[in-house]
Amino acid sequence: MLHSELFTVLFTTGAILLACWYFFLYRKRNENHLKLPPCPVRPWPLVGNIFSIGEDIRAQFKAWHKQCGGLFSIYFGSKLVVVINGFKTHQEVFVTKGAVTSDRPEIFLNEVIGLSGKGISFTSGAVWKELRYTGHQILKEFGMGTNLLAERIQEEVTCYMNKLAEMKGKPVDPQHFTYVSVANIICSFAFGRRFSYEDPRFKKTVDSLKRVSECARGAEAINFFPFLKYLPGDMFKAKTIQANSSCVKKMIAEKVSEIDRKSDVSAKKDDGGSYIFSYRDKQHKKTQSGKATCLNDDNLLKSIIDLFAAGTETVSSTILWALLFILHSPSVQTKIHEELDREVGQGRQPIMEDQARLPYLNAVIKETQRLSSVVPFSVMHKTSEEIKIGDFVIPEGTTLIPNLDSVLHDPEVWGSDAEMFNPDRFLDKDGNVIHREEFIPYSMGPRVCLGDAMAKMELFLFLSFMFQRFRFIATDPLYPPTLKPNIGFTSSPTAFEILCADRFK
Ligand code: HEM
Repeated sequence: MLHSELFTVLFTTGAILLACWYFFLYRKRNENHLKLPPCPVRPWPLVGNIFSIGEDIRAQFKAWHKQCGGLFSIYFGSKLVVVINGFKTHQEVFVTKGAVTSDRPEIFLNEVIGLSGKGISFTSGAVWKELRYTGHQILKEFGMGTNLLAERIQEEVTCYMNKLAEMKGKPVDPQHFTYVSVANIICSFAFGRRFSYEDPRFKKTVDSLKRVSECARGAEAINFFPFLKYLPGDMFKAKTIQANSSCVKKMIAEKVSEIDRKSDVSAKKDDGGSYIFSYRDKQHKKTQSGKATCLNDDNLLKSIIDLFAAGTETVSSTILWALLFILHSPSVQTKIHEELDREVGQGRQPIMEDQARLPYLNAVIKETQRLSSVVPFSVMHKTSEEIKIGDFVIPEGTTLIPNLDSVLHDPEVWGSDAEMFNPDRFLDKDGNVIHREEFIPYSMGPRVCLGDAMAKMELFLFLSFMFQRFRFIATDPLYPPTLKPNIGFTSSPTAFEILCADRFK
């Protein structure tokens, strides 16, 4: 009896204290920040809005964008996060105010690798600027003059096509091969060599990379409630992410030392050049000239991990989305074949120089990127100063989520069929490609995707080769595979099978 009375008293006191905290402290905090962007729903004490978001975050953000406009605030726990919607707001926040909205908040996915404050993708300030500049320089060296990058991609695509041809028209799940092949392009760029698809170490690394990406969504809560990673079991996938990230890091670290051990510079050049070689060369020149630099071992290792993580799933998911959309719109495939047969023929592989002659294929690639929106919420940014956007103030240190979906699927920009696959929207009346400023799958501002030029090359070379050689058919043309995405770090298609009919036979 005494126990139950004591429990009632404690429970009631606890409830009253919580209610006081909610109504006085939370309200007071909001009164102090009257100019914060609006909250679409009232946040709960301690948990904020996490239970208001529900299963389908894309649909929820779309509804809140409609309700609140270009900016809305949500709370993850007690942490303020501002979501950026629509083209004009993106432009103002990330371009006009880009100098003070380009930092990154620390996230678990990055911290778990054990190289916080290193690399390109999750650093801020001087380190980020120097590493991003270096990455950009190396990409330019590869892509220009020698056009080494295009050659490396072509070599990989040829191996990929042979793999598809080996299936001899039998149903194949293209997901695994595509992922492995795109990862191999980063290997070729980073280490100066590709791996055999059967190489067990390479296979293990690629599988680990994929596993990390699949678990990324589940682990998001850890960014705002760090104690979750210490819970027993693996409900938030912290342990799976930790184990798989270590595997990727170990393989890359070994490759870096292997290349470093080749003391002979000409031998390194014989490899045909690599990110590692160019980075070391720049590091050496800077140290020799006595310039202060952050080009060191850890930053090299983390930059390569970043390129792998950023450049594999994004490109492979886009290729798979193109196949899926085509299965749903067979007439589009017929037009691609007609254009390729007319402009390139079947006697040679397409090359980058053919791109300008293939407007329809280019429109298909753009429309695939627009509709699939493979990185729907980009990567989180953080303000380094308080900023004012219209009537609203966003405090220094606030996490920003760029809602790229809200631009790529905006009916006011793309029309009432914005949710449909229609490559013609990227062609003018004479069949030339239209370049729309609202086409921002790579985001915008100082933090825009570092690999956008490489990604465009990969998408063109993969898809032009693939359509030149194959006709892709649904295993059941009456019921093509679902368009429902899997949302992890990217929005990737649900696994599907496809038939690849060889047009050369
Ligand atoms: C279809 C392919 C791709 C898409 C849609 C894409 C999209 C994006 C997006 C939305 C961001 C975040 C930008 C921001 O924070 O505002 C990003 C960042 C980045 N991407 Fe890509 N990406 C693609 C391919 C690639 C490739 C092939 C590479 C490299 C080889 C790459 C390297 C990077 C890097 C290093 C960053 C971080 C940049 C920074 O923080 O400064 N991406 N990408």
